Amino acid sequence: MAHGAQSDTRKKLLELFAEANGEFLSGQKISEQLGCSRAAVWKHIEELRKEGFELEAVRRLGYRIVSTPDKVTANEIQLGLKTETLGHQIHFFEEVDSTQRIAAKLAYEGAPEGTLVIAEEQKAGRGRLDRKWFSPQGTGIWMSLILRPPIPPQQAPQLTLLVAVAVSQAIQEVTGLVPDIKWPNDILLHGKKCVGILTELQADPDRVRSVIIGIGINVNQTSAQFPEDICDIATSLAIEKGERIKRAPLIQEILLQLERLYKQYLEHGFRPIKLLWEGYAVSIGKPVTARTLGKVIRGIARGITDDGLLILEDEQNQLHYIHSADIQL
Ligand code: BTN
Repeated sequence: MAHGAQSDTRKKLLELFAEANGEFLSGQKISEQLGCSRAAVWKHIEELRKEGFELEAVRRLGYRIVSTPDKVTANEIQLGLKTETLGHQIHFFEEVDSTQRIAAKLAYEGAPEGTLVIAEEQKAGRGRLDRKWFSPQGTGIWMSLILRPPIPPQQAPQLTLLVAVAVSQAIQEVTGLVPDIKWPNDILLHGKKCVGILTELQADPDRVRSVIIGIGINVNQTSAQFPEDICDIATSLAIEKGERIKRAPLIQEILLQLERLYKQYLEHGFRPIKLLWEGYAVSIGKPVTARTLGKVIRGIARGITDDGLLILEDEQNQLHYIHSADIQL
């Protein structure tokens, strides 16, 4: 079942509840602010209830939000979202093949910067290097964000690293866990992968038209829920934290950190982001094996270039600049 971008009225209603901060809002006030009838207000409230919002209604006081569901619907994400642009247009789906495919189509059709496509489940989630991405129902964050940066295509890898920093900061802020980043953008907790990022471009030779940033986060899976082939190398935030984590507040934090870093990047370039990325990086200074499409290169990871490429020094002290590879520590 698909829900398109949600109505402005619903968005306004959620903003009113966010401002009310758990206090009652009278039906009269809501209908005045939304410019609709009391009956229409009641209908919107019922829709929110169907989505799992717990709303208390008290005569003469009005309505207040008691609890929000652990869903990743547009309503859940937009209630309390603090960004200026990112996530203001949300396309939510219960089930899709891949949010990446839908976001690419929307971007091609002209969807604005900041549009987010998110699903409870992906049937054909895609990873880097043509791999599959395991995306079971209701346990993770499977989302794709459209950005339209005014940069040439060769700078796009910088954005990939920027996103890894933003997601790491958000995880740290929300859970207290301190993640590591493995070049280019795998996010690890205690050596196991909990986040994958896939960046895809729509570009002319000299400029980027749009970047589709796919973010997959294992949030609430238990160890037993991972398929056998990845259970030794994958983990979830809940496994590492020892408790379940609500997904919508984490998404809000990711969008906020991403917007902040993205603005910084557009104003001051990649330098400040590179420093932050290096602060999270695990592979730098260590021996690594890079498997590219045709080659295997062993060496010491010396750092990243100003364009975001990995610098690898082999035994003959020759430097290799890696665009895309699978890195083993
Ligand atoms: C990786 O291989 O590490 C990248 C995984 C990226 C997965 C995300 S989940 C949301 C978006 N939709 C997809 O099909 N893939 C990305």
